[in-house]
Amino acid sequence: MTDKELLAAAAQAREKSWCRYSHFAVGAALLTEDGTLYSGCNIENAAYPLCTCAERTAIVKAVSEGHRRISAIAIVGGAEGTAATEVCPPCGSCRQLLAEFADGALRVILTDGSYTLDDLLPHRFSL
Ligand code: THU
Repeated sequence: MTDKELLAAAAQAREKSWCRYSHFAVGAALLTEDGTLYSGCNIENAAYPLCTCAERTAIVKAVSEGHRRISAIAIVGGAEGTAATEVCPPCGSCRQLLAEFADGALRVILTDGSYTLDDLLPHRFSL
């Protein structure tokens, strides 16, 4: 699957975003090491701390289905109801969550190009 196709899968997932508080819609699509695709959107809640990032949704779907190694993830985000043209880098929590299930070579594909986990979360915590 090309980066463009993975971004398109993220954009499709973004259409399901539940973001009635921030009105910022995010979609993510990841590939596991064996090439399986999982996608997800952000899901907000009236109790704000319960809001879930799109990346987290996709990661939880993959891991709960037995896929523990992620090789690439594409992320798109932007104001609800608009095309996701702005660059939407993953938040710090999602970077750490990705680190649990990927190595430093993980490809993080954004609308302005691709990065690695080593680029985005150097000197990260692990056990
Ligand atoms: N959000 C994500 O889905 N992923 C990120 O990496 C950053 C933020 C969501 C959370 C919340 O629903 C909205 O964007 C605004 O913060």
